[in-house]
Amino acid sequence: MNVIVLENASAIGQAAGDMVCELVSRRPNAVLGLATGSSPVPAYRRMIERCGAGEVSFREVTTFNLDEYCGLPAEHKNSYRTFMREELFSQVDIPLGNTNFLDGNCADEAAESARYSRALEAAGGVELQILGIGRNGHIGFNEPGEAFTQEAYKVALTPSTIEANSPYFTDRPMPAYAMTMGVGQILRARKIILIATGEAKADAVRAMLEGEITPRCPASALQGHPDVTVYLDPAAAGEASI
Ligand code: PGA
Repeated sequence: MNVIVLENASAIGQAAGDMVCELVSRRPNAVLGLATGSSPVPAYRRMIERCGAGEVSFREVTTFNLDEYCGLPAEHKNSYRTFMREELFSQVDIPLGNTNFLDGNCADEAAESARYSRALEAAGGVELQILGIGRNGHIGFNEPGEAFTQEAYKVALTPSTIEANSPYFTDRPMPAYAMTMGVGQILRARKIILIATGEAKADAVRAMLEGEITPRCPASALQGHPDVTVYLDPAAAGEASI
């Protein structure tokens, strides 16, 4: 993995956002894998800034988001659809019809998973995947477990994730389940950027970079991918020997 430590979240956002913009400038119909959470937001801001300046257009880009809560109306303020609309899609020129999400309210999870796999395949797969990492080493909502997951599925969120994300839920309790792309599916992206900032991520980052490859730290699977760039601030880099 190519590990880059920059001084703060804003410098990371600029570098990661520029990487996305350069890909889209070269290939205007690129397929992007997108993540929610606070980590990618500065990169999205950079993409918005460069699109606003006329340096890049997302008109022909297709996106696939990693995950979505179950049991939350799509229009709820905390849904990941809403998040993406607010933080990126409404501020660039991408048509909403080019953006793809798992349906957290689907009646048949296996059918929904198969639909997403088919859509990804029909689009030619993800060229560039943006990831954050959970304090417990999760990527997407793949929580620590006994086996690496493959295609999308419904996951029971762990206490660590519920503790980390609950503060965002002010009008109702946080959902206990989500639909997420599987680790195997995430690893099929041709290029991956993972962003982690803050001390709370240092243990997970170290396990991802230096620990054994184990489903108990889902992000450790990235060690087996040929093209991963990890952007860290000094706090998230912590004691890892980079
Ligand atoms: P965060 O979440 O970017 O809000 O820290 C990352 C994650 O849980 O994957």
